[in-house]
Amino acid sequence: MRFLTRRLVLPAAAFLGCLALLSGCASARKGEKIFAREKCGNCHRFRGVGGNLAPDLTAVTERRSDDWIKMQITGAGREGRRSRMPAFDHLSGSEIRALLAYLKS
Ligand code: HEC
Repeated sequence: MRFLTRRLVLPAAAFLGCLALLSGCASARKGEKIFAREKCGNCHRFRGVGGNLAPDLTAVTERRSDDWIKMQITGAGREGRRSRMPAFDHLSGSEIRALLAYLKS
């Protein structure tokens, strides 16, 4: 049993952990490109770079839930709540997830 744990389970776990980390990194890089392409930085400051028209997004993922951030970006469910931020409702689900990964990275 110990043999199995050392020879199989631990390397498999390490391998899967690596994969998860890598896909997280790739997603964050994709998010960084989308952040630039959509010009989020015109209004928002993020890690010391960007505009001052909107809240600083550095560590926003510690203040707000994932769902809140996704809603803020897509504008979904914003009815009745005024926002100066345009709704980025043309972004796909994977683009939104990538933006989130970038904000968390
Ligand atoms: C035209 C300016 C503008 C652009 C461009 C913009 N935002 Fe915003 N954003 C705002 C403003 C203003 C707020 C403050 C809340 C409100 O008015 O609804 C905000 C709020 C947010 C919040 C919530 C922050 C908090 O503390 O709750 C997030 C997350 C966010 N924006 C992400 C983005 C992302 C990602 C992009 C690019 C896809 C983007 N924003 C582009 C103006 C902008």
